[in-house]
Amino acid sequence: MDIELPAVGPGVEENTDTAEDSPPAELEYLNYRAVVKNGWSVEDHDLFEKAAAAELSERDHGTVEIDRNETLLRSAEANDLKWGSQCRSGTCNVCTAVLKSGEAKMDMNLALSDEEVEVRDLRLTCVAKPNSDTLQIVFNAAPEANGNPGSGL
Ligand code: FES
Repeated sequence: MDIELPAVGPGVEENTDTAEDSPPAELEYLNYRAVVKNGWSVEDHDLFEKAAAAELSERDHGTVEIDRNETLLRSAEANDLKWGSQCRSGTCNVCTAVLKSGEAKMDMNLALSDEEVEVRDLRLTCVAKPNSDTLQIVFNAAPEANGNPGSGL
């Protein structure tokens, strides 16, 4: 009796796609303080176009490639960017950013409500990792998290 066995061995390729093999994600960032200073709103649909036209400093606006396995905050720091942070463990909300496009998944979250995450698209950059090829975020947006935009940190 012939028994057909599944093909195994060196001729069979395994699916080795992992986050480690993935190309970096592209992150466009904008400083909330620059949004306020220029009289813009995080709700503006053309916010990043306005930021590009304003030729802000790299500290306030730019695009960097980031590791998909690293938090947004650590990736920013790896690119010599200084974003607000305190606890660095998802509990204080100082590192809050507004996710304008793309996906960023938080490993944990003890600072933001479901409404702030799901409706207002807030993320804690100290625990959020990219989950899409491109992302746009407004960082230093902690006042947004408190429903008090424009008050500063
Ligand atoms: S630094 Fe405290 S929640 Fe991110």
